[in-house]
Amino acid sequence: MRPSILYAAILLLASAALTAGQNPTMLGHPEDYPRVDVEHGARLYAEHCDRCHGANGNGVSGVDLRSGKFRNATTDQQLRTVITNGFPTAGMPAFKFDPADLTGLVAYLRNMNSIDRGSLRAGNAAHGQTVLETKGACLSCHRINDKGSRKGPNLSDIGANRSAGSLERSLTDPSSQMWPINRPIRIVTRDGRVINGRRLNEDTYTVQIADEEGRLLSLNKAELREFTVSTKSTMPSYKEELTSEELADVVSYLLTLKGQ
Ligand code: HEC
Ligand code: HEC
Repeated sequence: MRPSILYAAILLLASAALTAGQNPTMLGHPEDYPRVDVEHGARLYAEHCDRCHGANGNGVSGVDLRSGKFRNATTDQQLRTVITNGFPTAGMPAFKFDPADLTGLVAYLRNMNSIDRGSLRAGNAAHGQTVLETKGACLSCHRINDKGSRKGPNLSDIGANRSAGSLERSLTDPSSQMWPINRPIRIVTRDGRVINGRRLNEDTYTVQIADEEGRLLSLNKAELREFTVSTKSTMPSYKEELTSEELADVVSYLLTLKGQ
């Protein structure tokens, strides 16, 4: 290996180790978990886990969920596996939670020790839907089931994959959560037509976009004069626009959107 390549490889390894160490999903410190995830997890826990583990986490003999130490799991990923597989012979059923729900449950387990469930505010999904459809005017850009526009991504199953914490950040700082595929693009065709839109799909020769009117277009790259991808979201931030309670309610509603 040439020294410069070796050096680059070492740098890469070092930075990978650094990001792994900073990744809250590996560390498990209570403060690493967004409040909205903890709240979402607390609701799921009350619904699915209370009946065996109890409100204080000590309902199963030999298991103390509040202690923060688990016999069968150290990392968050292992906790997700424990919850997903259960212990069928010992009496814990397997659960079919999607990634967003697992993120919430792990966040709650990591915070059970320090959080009084009575103090958690349960987000009001029904009120969240009203805010989304009226004050937030989200359907002017987004589609949910059979309502709304195609300008922004379809949100009909957003609650299955995106955690509460990342949904909240999508609303207060949209660019920070933007997926590369959703990046806004500006196109100038050979005949001088300017098209702004959102990238849906791209391969070597073509690009598919939803334009500002929500129309779907497929363009041949060879026929474009200009093709620029931006990393700044065109979605407005709702940080000042909505109160923190309205934001929490909208997140609660988005979490109920799990597709079919
Ligand atoms: C029907 C009863 C029951 C339900 C419901 C249940 N559990 Fe369990 N759980 C158990 C039993 C029993 C064990 C102990 C298994 C063993 O000791 O091998 C266990 C173990 C665990 C462990 C491992 C503890 C350790 O020290 O390694 C975790 C974590 C856990 N449960 C989380 C949950 C979560 C989260 C939920 C709700 C989504 C849940 N459980 C629902 C009965 C249940
Ligand atoms: C002016 C148009 C516009 C409005 C209004 C708007 N959005 Fe968006 N939104 C977008 C665009 C474009 C994206 C894709 C780029 C991005 O991720 O930032 C997006 C992305 C998102 C995402 C991430 C989707 C994903 O697949 O990762 C969520 C969640 C979201 N918006 C929710 C909302 C909610 C809730 C509201 C109302 C409170 C809202 N948006 C209002 C245009 C808009």
